[in-house]
Amino acid sequence: MITISSISIKLLMLLPLFKIWSPQDFDFFYLVQQWPGSSCDTTRGCCFPLTGKPASNFSIHGLWPTVNDGSYPASCSITRNPFNQSMITDLIPRAEKSWPSLTCAGKKKQGKRSTALNLKDQVDLLQILQSNGIKPDGNFYSIVEMTKAIKQAIGVAPGITCNTDPFGNLQFNEIYLCVDTSASNFIECPVLPRVIRSCKEDNVEFPIF
Ligand SMILES: *[C@@H]1O[C@H](CO)[C@@H](O)[C@H](O)[C@H]1NC(C)=O
Ligand SMILES: *[C@@H]1O[C@H](CO)[C@@H](O)[C@H](O)[C@H]1NC(C)=O
Repeated sequence: MITISSISIKLLMLLPLFKIWSPQDFDFFYLVQQWPGSSCDTTRGCCFPLTGKPASNFSIHGLWPTVNDGSYPASCSITRNPFNQSMITDLIPRAEKSWPSLTCAGKKKQGKRSTALNLKDQVDLLQILQSNGIKPDGNFYSIVEMTKAIKQAIGVAPGITCNTDPFGNLQFNEIYLCVDTSASNFIECPVLPRVIRSCKEDNVEFPIF
């Protein structure tokens, strides 16, 4: 038989699961920018936003609140959805170009999105890489050189993730930068996520888009 008191104890145990993240719950953000060519140059392919093929430029994958031990305070869905422009009418047309792919699903989406856009405007990763001779031309480039170029330009080292093209070549996929809790300054990453280890070889493809 279920008694009132056993129900309330169960409810109390569940409460922490429903906590919404707040600045006290995390130590920094990962600002993750993705090279769109790398999502498309896979056996799975990619989906374009409703507005058509995005610019040949980095797009923001997310601004993820993260704890110093590398865990996430909030669970964000990492499924790929076509960009739905009616959800961010206040940010159009700026966001059309800069935010073509995917984000955390959640109520805080709009606030997070405009923060990430401002940060992205501070750093033009494509320009940084290109001015160091690293171009999206389907050739292979050194992860060490990419990391050096970005560190030299913005003062902090990035984390770089890779995925695999349909022929099994490793290609660089995302650039992780760490940002303080005020979401305004880049910081050295306290910890890099495990996916960074997917770039096992130094020379990786920079796919055309
Ligand atoms: C886009 O988002 C709006 C508002 O949330 C929703 O009503 C609409 O069905 C969505 N459209 C698509 C194609 O998902
Ligand atoms: C790429 O995006 C950056 C950051 O938003 C922007 O400053 C730059 O002009 C863009 N480059 C191209 C070639 O569109």
